[in-house]
Amino acid sequence: MAHSLLETLWQGRAAQYEFRAYGSQPAADWGVDFRETWNSVQHLHKMIGTKFLFMELGVYEARSGCFMLDFVLTHPESRYVGVDKWDGEHGEEQYAVATRNLGKHAKERWKLVKGMSPRVFFNSKLFQPFTYDVIYVDGGHVAAQALRDVVFVWEMLKKHGVLIVDDYENRDNWVCSQPVTQGVNNWLRVQPDWMYTVLKKKKQLVVVKNGEF
Ligand SMILES: C[S@@+](CC[C@H](N)C(=O)[O-])C[C@H]1O[C@@H](n2cnc3c(N)ncnc32)[C@H](O)[C@@H]1O
Repeated sequence: MAHSLLETLWQGRAAQYEFRAYGSQPAADWGVDFRETWNSVQHLHKMIGTKFLFMELGVYEARSGCFMLDFVLTHPESRYVGVDKWDGEHGEEQYAVATRNLGKHAKERWKLVKGMSPRVFFNSKLFQPFTYDVIYVDGGHVAAQALRDVVFVWEMLKKHGVLIVDDYENRDNWVCSQPVTQGVNNWLRVQPDWMYTVLKKKKQLVVVKNGEF
């Protein structure tokens, strides 16, 4: 695939960050589809350099977070908030890596919140209704988790805000009997049509919030 401009810029910058390989696994780049989304969806492209608040659910080592701070959240008052449970075998290490990576940016520009979605949302004033301009959901990848996450974060999205859901379409080589698609389609089905506009429905789902009840 030909590299987009943002992808090329990111490849030039990524070397300054730390991304680890765990066991026999190479360092995971789960941000590739996310960067493609930013490049290809005009609605998002227009936001680059404007002032906005961004939340990512599922941070891992903050690869997408650093991409956002480097190339998208470039307005001095734009902010990144990342949420992750970091509770796996390498969770502590991944949290430390994420903190060091984001630490290359001024500390007032980003915040990490450690905790399990959706329970973590009840514990911090950061998670208020109608707060965020863009929310990226890339946490639990089982249908019920994705459904739960989308329901919660939708409340935190401003009117005209954008929701991005990763792995809306399964990766070809990734088998799960209850994929993200199933959970998120159930949510889409019960939303009134006027409430949202779909901008992209591929590996990632991109939806604009038109209003709320
Ligand atoms: C695919 S990785 C995220 C990759 C990251 N968005 C990027 O672009 O590099 C998924 C992350 O979601 C986190 N996660 C999974 N379920 C979660 C939950 N219920 N609450 C919070 N974090 C969760 C995992 O700990 C993991 O770090």
